[in-house]
Amino acid sequence: MDGTAGEPIRDTSRGVDVRPSTENDVPAMLAIYAHHITRGLGEFDPEPTHADDIKRRRKNMLRRRLPHLVAEREGAVVGYAYAVPFRKRPAYRYAVKHSIYVHPEHLHSGIGRLLLPALVEACTAAGFRQMFAYIDADNRPSQNLHEAHGFQRVGVLTGVGYKFGGWTDSLLMQRAIGEGATTPPPEPKFEPKPEPA
Ligand SMILES: CC(C)(COP(=O)(O)OP(=O)(O)OC[C@H]1O[C@@H](n2cnc3c(N)ncnc32)[C@H](O)[C@@H]1OP(=O)(O)O)[C@@H](O)C(=O)NCCC(=O)NCCS
Repeated sequence: MDGTAGEPIRDTSRGVDVRPSTENDVPAMLAIYAHHITRGLGEFDPEPTHADDIKRRRKNMLRRRLPHLVAEREGAVVGYAYAVPFRKRPAYRYAVKHSIYVHPEHLHSGIGRLLLPALVEACTAAGFRQMFAYIDADNRPSQNLHEAHGFQRVGVLTGVGYKFGGWTDSLLMQRAIGEGATTPPPEPKFEPKPEPA
């Protein structure tokens, strides 16, 4: 597997570019994340996240050649999306799960609609075959966005989260990418070791 994202994607009608993130984007990504995790329907974490946490996660993902993208409008980061391994064990190495966050002042203005297909394309180009998202059962915007981009609801995890004083359900949404499960993955060529003399 190789590569993260290719050429930046530009939506001229909205003045938005999608490109691989850089370390300079970390403060802007942190601000977006900090907003959503303390109040939203996405991840929940009452503890503040630090720039170093995001830097470390980003570097870890890039080392594994996993896409990490930002959307930029007039020079400001207005959203980001990235993929992580679905599970750690080697059998699952062709499956990723992803997250996507849009700046609170730019919600429902077409950023997610640009970021998600760009992430799908980057994951496909990197050789992955399946993408998954865990989505809060009350998170209608995210479910709609994912359905509009070919993700299907494949499961419900009941009472799996606890936040804001109540239990929450998560939906598991999945999409096959590239050749999905229709063909075997390209395995690395096996080079037999020379017989000892
Ligand atoms: C989910 C999220 C990424 C969507 O991004 P966005 O930029 O606001 O979405 P877009 O403007 O590109 O809209 C794309 C589609 O998403 C859906 N959508 C977006 N906002 C919506 C809303 N408030 N209500 C219902 N559907 C909505 C619609 O299907 C929309 O298509 P439409 O414009 O034709 O109706 C964004 O709401 C977000 O960052 N939410 C907080 C963090 C989060 O929940 N992340 C996902 C965790 S799984």
